[in-house]
Amino acid sequence: MLDTKNPLIAEFLKDHQQFSRLIYEISNLLKANKIEKARERAKELDAVAGPHIAYEEAELYPRLAGLGEKATSEEMLVGQHHEAIDALRDLLNIPTPSEEQLKSIKAGFQDSLTHAEHCGSLISLLTQLEASEQTESLEVLRDFRKQGKNWTDL
Ligand SMILES: [Fe+2]
Repeated sequence: MLDTKNPLIAEFLKDHQQFSRLIYEISNLLKANKIEKARERAKELDAVAGPHIAYEEAELYPRLAGLGEKATSEEMLVGQHHEAIDALRDLLNIPTPSEEQLKSIKAGFQDSLTHAEHCGSLISLLTQLEASEQTESLEVLRDFRKQGKNWTDL
């Protein structure tokens, strides 16, 4: 079980839950062909995901690798972010996507949902770090939030 009293986990989960909820909502809106509404949500996702993804790529994944976590590779996880951002960019930038484009956008968001579930469980592994390292890691997350970049601007 996730120790939600751990400050690092609690902070990570704040963004993570919003991130996952938005992806889920966008996925459902796309399935219902409500493209305009999906695009509105996608703008929120872009803002929420910026600090979250930056933290994952700069901190979470390298720390997992440092802990010897072999069940999952950094390269694969970052690759999944790239696929997800392609879908997000297409949804934001193509005013009227073709059927083919829409299909790939939908698939991208569907895959993002699976990825998000996975990342949510990986954070618990960081409780193996020394308390001081967890605090450092949390500072990095807060710094990324202060920078406030969109995902598409990383
Ligand atoms: Fe992730």
